[in-house]
Amino acid sequence: MKFTHIKSIDTTKDFILPCKKDDLKSIQEFLPIANPDFDGSFNTHLLIYGTKGNRIYLVGLGEDKNAGQIESTFQKFAFETCKYWSNDIQLYADGLNDDELLKTVIGLEMSQYTIGEFRSKKEDKKEFTVVISSTKNIENILEEGKFTGETINKIKGLVDAPPNVKTPEYLGNWAEKSAKEASYTCTVLKQKQLEEQGFDAVLSVGKGSVNPPVVIINEYKAKDTETIDIALVGKGITFDSGGLSIKPSTNLHYMKSDMGGAAVVLGVVELVAKLKLNINIIGIVASAENAVDANSYRPGDVINSYSGKTIEIIDTDAEGRLVLADGLNFAIKKYNPEYIIDLATLTGSVVRTFGYAAAGMFTENQEMANTMSAVGYKVHERVWQLPMFEDYEADLKSDVADIKNFNGKPIEGAINAAKFLEFFTEKHPKWMHLDIAGVSFGSSQYAKMKSATGYGIQLITNFIKEKANK
Ligand code: BES
Ligand code: ZN
Ligand code: ZN
Repeated sequence: MKFTHIKSIDTTKDFILPCKKDDLKSIQEFLPIANPDFDGSFNTHLLIYGTKGNRIYLVGLGEDKNAGQIESTFQKFAFETCKYWSNDIQLYADGLNDDELLKTVIGLEMSQYTIGEFRSKKEDKKEFTVVISSTKNIENILEEGKFTGETINKIKGLVDAPPNVKTPEYLGNWAEKSAKEASYTCTVLKQKQLEEQGFDAVLSVGKGSVNPPVVIINEYKAKDTETIDIALVGKGITFDSGGLSIKPSTNLHYMKSDMGGAAVVLGVVELVAKLKLNINIIGIVASAENAVDANSYRPGDVINSYSGKTIEIIDTDAEGRLVLADGLNFAIKKYNPEYIIDLATLTGSVVRTFGYAAAGMFTENQEMANTMSAVGYKVHERVWQLPMFEDYEADLKSDVADIKNFNGKPIEGAINAAKFLEFFTEKHPKWMHLDIAGVSFGSSQYAKMKSATGYGIQLITNFIKEKANK
């Protein structure tokens, strides 16, 4: 989609009129009738025709409590109606504040995401231009909204891609291409380099697959200093069969989304680079396929890790924490970042706890927790904090190694995974773990089955913005 700016709309042509709940008064001058069957409720829209036969779309923004979800109302509206639009459509934006306009543009761009990329017959895609009226200078907002929506669509495409296509190497190629386009640097460590540098946990997880593991290092530096302000680390399991501790086959196909954390990291670095935020960040993706084979790592194995700490494998399905242990330890030792955040579709336990409504947030740093929580409400990508009490440590003590990868109990699953990760963070004072297993994949209007949500891109980018402005 293209977004352009005009001072006022031409009311003889098609236009979109956003409207808050029970506030038809503010748009009355544009309505050909006094009382349309519409009250501005959230996620609703109505088409009426103007005196020239032009389309007037009323789009409901709802109440103040819906402010964080304006994208979704525009995404749904445009997804359902754009087949009837001509190439250009106007949007009356004088009633929107900057935040509302940004979300409007993001939502409109998001409406253009389609899931059928792998069908033999491609859908015809029109390139629409949304002509936005405002008396203010809105060019920067339009650009930010377009970049944000485009990045969300790209990472959704990556999460929805089939696991025979998006191998670890494919993620590496994706990152290299993105780095060229958005002007940041990307290094992909392949099998041999991983062996040389001691990424033993990543290598162990990937042992059973014909698709070798990779570690991707994306660097975006806007400042003259060498210091890294924020490091992001993502779990990039391109398919999680469970390994020898194999998963049941029901819903196994959804385990192609087990690189949702990696997708957020890749997307955020691209977006931050496109927005040219004044910050130095790195994005690390630890990627492998957890497959079943004669070479697979086994329950009972004791493996090494980048940190030099040994790990007893109790369950090969607890693989995400292993690749993250290497990713986190590498990021901390090599880059000494001020903040470090990992994102991972890590546990079924977090899905049972929060369903699809929030990610599990783990940190000992309350300042970070407060910022992330506030940002989460603002962009409607919510987080909820769970404890990191010392009490949980005893459960991870191994008889034969420095730590074991699973407590072997049907309790405290998400917390235990977080405690395991903490063991590899060198007591970093500003580390946060986000378990996004419930929120990165879900229902949508364009798919019958579950598909990528795009969760995390706005959350982490806005967190970074908060830090960049300080
Ligand atoms: N990838 C899964 C977690 C997951 C579950 C993601 C549901 C998305 C939806 C992870 O690797 C896993 O298998 N976790 C196990 C750990 C257990 C064996 C200790 C789990 O949570 O059941
Ligand atoms: Zn698993
Ligand atoms: Zn997994």
